[in-house]
Amino acid sequence: MDILVIGGGGREHAIVMKLADSPKVDKIYCAPGNGGISKYAECFDVSATDIEGVVALAERLKPDMVAVAPDDPLVLGMVDALQAKGFKTFGPRANAAIIEGSKVFSKELMKKYGIPTAAYEVFTDSESAIKYLKEQNSYPAVIKADGLALGKGVILAQNEEEAVQAVHEMIDELKFGKSSARIVIEEYLTGPEVSVLSFTDGKTVVPMISSMDHKRALDGDEGLNTGGMGTVAPNPYYTDEIAAECMEKIFKPTIEAMNAEGRTFEGCLYFGLMLTPKGSKVIEYNCRFGDPETQVVLPMLDTDLAEIFEAIYEHRLGDLNIRWKSGSCTCVVMASGGYPLSYPKGLEISGLDDKGQVEGAFVYHAGTKLSADGKFLTNGGRVLGVTCTALTLAEALRRSYDAVSRISWENVHYRHDIGQRALKADTDPLGLHYKDDMEDYIESNGVYLRQ
Ligand code: AMP
Ligand code: GLY
Repeated sequence: MDILVIGGGGREHAIVMKLADSPKVDKIYCAPGNGGISKYAECFDVSATDIEGVVALAERLKPDMVAVAPDDPLVLGMVDALQAKGFKTFGPRANAAIIEGSKVFSKELMKKYGIPTAAYEVFTDSESAIKYLKEQNSYPAVIKADGLALGKGVILAQNEEEAVQAVHEMIDELKFGKSSARIVIEEYLTGPEVSVLSFTDGKTVVPMISSMDHKRALDGDEGLNTGGMGTVAPNPYYTDEIAAECMEKIFKPTIEAMNAEGRTFEGCLYFGLMLTPKGSKVIEYNCRFGDPETQVVLPMLDTDLAEIFEAIYEHRLGDLNIRWKSGSCTCVVMASGGYPLSYPKGLEISGLDDKGQVEGAFVYHAGTKLSADGKFLTNGGRVLGVTCTALTLAEALRRSYDAVSRISWENVHYRHDIGQRALKADTDPLGLHYKDDMEDYIESNGVYLRQ
């Protein structure tokens, strides 16, 4: 098989490297790709959101399959456009990708089919939204833009002033364009968060190994929200018992609900869950592989990814026996100093070999490019995801951080505490003492919070 992968971040690098392991796969192409991906796939300078450009590229390359990884092209209908030209695809069509593309759609779906999620109301005018916030008078208030907003469309307002400001910015000032003309205000939930990616062909749903993201920029879960600063898999809060409950109450009902709506979902459906004291609830659905969750999930997969993609396209996922490796996988994201706000690009990265790797780790490139003389340069906020597998979480973390210490560039930033919360899961199953534990950890390791 020749496969074209659409996207150009760490997630796509992990997909490309897994496909490269497959005896079925001959050539791998990627658009747009990045510096690191270009060592494993032939890259083409076509943007991941350029539907016409990608269709034209596919017509030129004639791949046996096109896998579309990022949210925007899926929501915009790239899979529909490729299928219309006769290409085999991996990823949902637009009418199913809406499960991520519209929070109002996903909340209404969950309400209609009794899938557990936070209670909510939808607003299209700021006056009613503010009136509702004042009546509820409950903080933090969770305010979400309806549509895609580059992962920034969720505000946890700590008080009325912040909540009112968020409502004005979203509805009146259209901070996220059309995406925030409608908003959802929902109940604030607490508990450990778990990411569960799943493969589904609309008939069968196969959850992948669970994972835990670390969304805040700084150690101790301080600082701004980011796309994700690191991940571990499996997520120790997600016990077999919770997994069984989620299968019955969330995963299967979601697949069935989408079928009942005439919106069969085929591809990777991502369940963002919160394990609340009242049971597991859906925080969000994504219509695609998570980033950086994919970087820790795919290295643990013991089945041929290309075979899974084919089986999903042919609606015979139920015939496959998908296996996982034992042990743990950890990914530490190395970012540009200043991320997620402003940061320079084009800084030379030292410590990587000529394939962009270091010994003993998988280095997934998120934002790199190659200079004319073949050096790796930074080219984004999140730059690398340094990933290791081992029999224990502690050992995988030790290896990831060891590899991180051998890579550098000017003003590099990464979190020092990826996985620390997961290491405490046995003694603190609800994650209640995380903050205190973090302070002890930071004190004893001499790691200070950076501003
Ligand atoms: P989302 O983009 O929907 O995943 O939201 C981003 C982050 O906001 C989540 O990972 C949670 O940490 C937090 N969040 C979203 N919804 C809620 C909620 N209802 N209660 C508490 N935290 C939430
Ligand atoms: N890491 C969260 C996401 O991919 O949306």
